[in-house]
Parts: sequence; C-alpha cells; structure tokens
Amino acid sequence: MPPLPPSHGVRAALAAAIERAVGQPDVDPLLVPSRQPGVDWQANFAMKLAKVVGEPPRAIAEKVAAELGDAGGLLTSVQVAGPGFLNLAFAPAALARWATFALGDERLGVPLAEHPQTVYVDYSAPNVAKEMHVGHLRSTVIGDALVRALEFEGHTVIRANHLGDWGTQFGMLTQHMLDTGVEHLRDFAALGELYRQAKARFDEDAEFKEAARRRVVALQAGDEQTLALWQDLVDVSLAHINAIYAQLDVTLTDEHLMAESFYNPLLPGTVEDLLNAGVATESEGAVVVASERFTDQDGRPSVLMVRKSDGGYGYGTTDLATIRHSAQELKADRMIYVTDARQAQHFAMVFDAASTAGWINGVRPEHVPFGAMLGDDGKPFKTRAGGTVPLTDLLDSAVQRARAIVDERDADLPEDERAAIARAVGIGAVKYADLSTSRQRDLIFSFDRMLALDGNTAPYMLYACVRAASIAERADEHSTAVTALDEPIERTLVLKLADFGDVLELMTETLEPHRLCTYLYELAGLYTRFYEACPVLKADTPERRASRLALCDLTAATLERGLGLLGITVPARM
Ligand code: ARG
Repeated sequence: MPPLPPSHGVRAALAAAIERAVGQPDVDPLLVPSRQPGVDWQANFAMKLAKVVGEPPRAIAEKVAAELGDAGGLLTSVQVAGPGFLNLAFAPAALARWATFALGDERLGVPLAEHPQTVYVDYSAPNVAKEMHVGHLRSTVIGDALVRALEFEGHTVIRANHLGDWGTQFGMLTQHMLDTGVEHLRDFAALGELYRQAKARFDEDAEFKEAARRRVVALQAGDEQTLALWQDLVDVSLAHINAIYAQLDVTLTDEHLMAESFYNPLLPGTVEDLLNAGVATESEGAVVVASERFTDQDGRPSVLMVRKSDGGYGYGTTDLATIRHSAQELKADRMIYVTDARQAQHFAMVFDAASTAGWINGVRPEHVPFGAMLGDDGKPFKTRAGGTVPLTDLLDSAVQRARAIVDERDADLPEDERAAIARAVGIGAVKYADLSTSRQRDLIFSFDRMLALDGNTAPYMLYACVRAASIAERADEHSTAVTALDEPIERTLVLKLADFGDVLELMTETLEPHRLCTYLYELAGLYTRFYEACPVLKADTPERRASRLALCDLTAATLERGLGLLGITVPARM
C-alpha cells in the first residue's frame, strides 16, 4: 500500500480512536491546519461530540488522545488544549517518508478517487455561424480545467461540446445560400457576411421569412441539399472554433461534439415521456412544463416551453434530452453544465422537470454558473462599436503583450524560445485570471493585471515553478529522498505539498477551480519562504542539501502538475 498523505493517516487513526473512546463510528475529526508553533493540525471534533456523547469536550478529547497514542508513529505530540481541541504534531520521519514517496510517484502522492464516477461535462458550446464570445471563453477555460482535474482523480469524463447548430436561423442561412447560389463558404468571414445579408432579408422581406421557415422544415426532414448547405456552415464554423481551441490549448476536439443536432432525433421521445409522466401538459397547442416554483422577474410563473404550437422545440427541450440521454444511455453519475449565470433559472427548471420525470434517480445534475466578463472600465466587455470582441484577436494580443515582457526579461534567450514562453505566459495569463477568480463573480478583464509579475497571476506562478525546477537542475546530483525536516518552514512546506490531493478533491466537489489556484499561490509563497530561510545548494551538510533539493523538485512538480490541471503549460525556461 502506498503511504497516504499524512493528514489522511491521522484522520483515519483519529476516527478509529474516537470510536474506541466514545463509541461513535465514522466521526469526521474536523482537522484544520494550525498556526501555533510546534502544532501542525488541530482536531475540533470534541466540541461537536459533546452533546451527542453527553460529556464535556475536554473529557472527550482526553479519552480520544489516550486511545490515539502516536497514531502508529505518525505523530510526535498530541495535546488537549482550550475547551477541548486536540493539537497534533506530525512525526518528521512520517512527513519525510511521504514526501519521498510522492516525489517518486507519478501521481505525486495523490490517491485515486475512492468511488470513480462517470461524469458528463457540458462546456464551451459555442454557436454555429456566430462569433465565439467571452462567455464561451469562460465556459471553455473553466470546463477544461474541471475535466482535467476530474480525469486526474480517476473519474471517467465525457466531454460534451453542446454546439448550437440547430434552430430557425439555419433555415434563414441555407435559404439565402440557395437564393444566392452559394454552395460553399470560403471562410468564417464569408459566413459572417452571409449571416448579415440573410438576417437583413429575414427582417425586411416577409416572403423570404416564409421561405426560411419552410427551409427549416426541410432541414428537419433531412432534405439532402439543405443538409449539405447546413453541413458547410457547421464545417466553416468548426474550423474557426477549432483554431481558437488550438490557440487556447484546450482538450476539446470534434470527437466531443454533442451538438444540438445530435439530440434532435431524441426530442419527440423526450416530449412523449414528459407528457406520459404528467410533467408536461398541452396548452393552446403547445407543450409546456409549468411549475409553481419558478417565477420570472415580474413574479409571474415561468414555464418551460417544450414544444411550440408550430411543432418547433425549445432550447430547454434539448437540455431535457441531454439529461435523459446521459442518465439512461451514458449512465452518467454526475452531469455538469458550465454556462453563464444568466442560465441558472433555465437549468433549475430543466433539472426540476427531469427529476419529476424520474430521469435523474441517483444522478447529480449541476449547473456551474459563472459571472460576466467586464472590461477594465467595469462595463460589459465589447468592442468600441459595441460588438463581440473576436477571441482570436484577444488571445493574440495577450501573447503579443507577454512577448514584450519576455523580450525584456529574457533578452538572452533564442528567438523561438522567447516565442514559446510568450505563448505560455500570454495564454496562461488569460486562463489563470479567469480560473483564479471565484467563478460566480464578474471577471474584470485587464491585460495589465493578468500579466503582472507579482501577485496571484500566471507570470508569477510560472516563474515560481520554473525557478524551483531550475535549482534541482543546477545541482550536479539528482536527489530522490526527503530525509531532513529540521526547519519549521520545511515541515510547513511538506504539509502543504501533501494537501494537493485534498485540494483537487475540493475543486472537483465544488467545481471551483479558484480553490486550486489559491492553493498553488500559497504553495509558491511557502516555497519562497523556505528558499529564503533554508540554503539549498549551500546547505551545511550533504544530507540537508540532498533533502532540500528533493523538496525543490517536489514543489516544482506539484506546481507544474497543478498548473497543468488548470490547462496552463509551464515553459522549460523563463
Ligand atoms: N450554445 C449556448 C450558448 O451559446 C450554450 C449551451 C450550453 N449548454 C447547454 N446544454 N445548454 O449560450
């Protein structure tokens, strides 16, 4: 058995001691890190148990301490304090043993999830024939971090890119293509132009509007010519979207498309099930789900439109189909939808209807909302003319600005290496700024802030990581064992390193990537303190030198892995 992170071992030993001492099984010992000198952790279970057990907390803590002993050599000190805390100090040998194991372990000592699940993650989901916007950028960046972390924990992840490729606008676009004799669009710009023209006609010309409507019906019915034109729109859009994915370095590919059109054939069955289950009702020729629980801004009951009176389906119908499909066919245990917060009510209604329909027994559907992206001025992020900011330009600017910084700082590095660093820093900065902000909050997009070399930013984190790795490289020996943990900061650093797995678990539980960012930032800070307090290459004994080199190595590896799980690449040099 590989050694567990020290806190896991202590937690298990404490739970067992609590059961022996007061007969309560499966009690969470409520371990929290301590700031007191000579104390690593504090366990707060006794205050909570006092009522259940009917004894004062101090008495409980004392009994448990007696049962705990040294927790099989994991602890050097166990003390009852205050109203009934247990103050614990880890045995340096146990910490060193874990760190040495983690350094040699591919997973850096992080255990796999105890109960691996199948997790369906719907993210990115841009729309065909439209520019990808900042909302899609946030969904893509957050979703990609979540899937990487979930996979690392050992879950089976189904990436679902719910491309918006279906609906009335495709009747309008394909009809306009037919009318103007366009079979194939050159590029995304040509598609933009086509969209503008078709939309103008649609708004002005009643006859065209009617033709467009009939064209949608033809598309729905699988008319070959219409489908071919539609496919061209999809292909041109995907080329544009995939170029952005490549620029962003995200893990989504065409394999992960679970587009609206994919669910289209499943919609009639979905509606039928809803009607049969009594979840949906017919109302003036339409099919709706009405629930008292949801109201609009004016306090009127909101309804979920399932099938319009003209036979067309709503956005919500497709989402109901995604749940029915992932629960029944994909056997997902968890379904995650990453979209902006404005869709919160939509998903609440969809989840509610799906649950009443009996589709989500034991499955956990979750909406992962995020705030708006705002400009430096705190206003919605738009071009000066008020349009959507093209993401390609945005990402290019980030890399260009990073390049200026790199050229100054790393003037001695060769051209191609500087270009690679600028890419890592620029793209990393955009992602890290997004991920490190609590996602529910609005995000202020500021190049100056995200590219700052100090503070919780990508450049700071990348430098910290590269610096830690380079020390180990500069040493002539390769050290694989942590053996001496004499300085308090060394212990603190190891304990922090050992938290990595717990933080990942917290991140995938709360679906909040900023938890990992905060952890990595704190880790980088502790590492700096360690480095300032403890000479590494010039340590006073060969043993300390080797042990500290190994600590540098483990820190670098943990930072790099953590950033990697956020989707951020660490350059070899900086
Ligand atoms: N295409 C939608 C949009 O651009 C997002 C879709 C999100 N996923 C979903 N299953 N509804 O707003």
